[in-house]
Amino acid sequence: MRIIALLILSSTIILASTYTKADRIKDMQIMEKAMSTISTGILYNNPDIVKEGAISLSDAIRRVKPPIEVETEKDPMARYMNNRVTFSYKIVRNIDKKVKTILERFKAGDSRAASQAHAKIMKQCIQCHYEVLDW
Ligand code: HEC
Repeated sequence: MRIIALLILSSTIILASTYTKADRIKDMQIMEKAMSTISTGILYNNPDIVKEGAISLSDAIRRVKPPIEVETEKDPMARYMNNRVTFSYKIVRNIDKKVKTILERFKAGDSRAASQAHAKIMKQCIQCHYEVLDW
């Protein structure tokens, strides 16, 4: 009985965290597109396009986390990398906050501040690639 309970527990844990590398790559591509959608919206002064990009970016960045392949890693070097990714959660939160800034500033008619927040997001993207991937 106890074994069955354990099996159920462990399989739910695995199911709950099946965020794979492939999922992460997909989210990265969604975010890249969202970033250009936002700049298109700012340049055409079109709130609907800015909003569409912002929602898509926010959705995707909230999904980003260390993929299952990294979490189940036993190797110490890989665990060290994993800690660096934990550090990058801060970056994820910063990006999410800046997306809100874009929406607020654009709505207030301040497209310069909106584009500044967009540039700050780009810096955070690059920062994580630098930390995690040495890109
Ligand atoms: C938490 C860290 C992190 C953040 C933040 C992050 N990235 Fe990434 N990004 C990665 C990792 C890791 C990869 C490599 C994916 C892989 O190969 O597993 C990647 C790869 C990519 C790729 C290449 C995908 C491909 O098809 O190979 C693009 C494009 C990309 N990121 C865009 C972005 C954009 C745009 C942002 C900001 C809105 C961003 N990333 C923020 C970690 C991050």
